[in-house]
Amino acid sequence: MYVCLCKAVTSQQIEDAVVQGDSYAQIRQKYGVGTDCGCCGQSAKQLIRQTVANL
Ligand code: FES
Repeated sequence: MYVCLCKAVTSQQIEDAVVQGDSYAQIRQKYGVGTDCGCCGQSAKQLIRQTVANL
């Protein structure tokens, strides 16, 4: 499922990055999440929190 439509970033890409230890800032820099319209920022952060909690 796409989390960021502007940059075509999926939830799987974000989850994989979190598993590898990336923070929101790093994921934002690496994939561009939240750097266009910005409307995906909250859902991306929520997904990161959920993924970290499940590690
Ligand atoms: Fe992610 Fe627009 S949906 S920046």
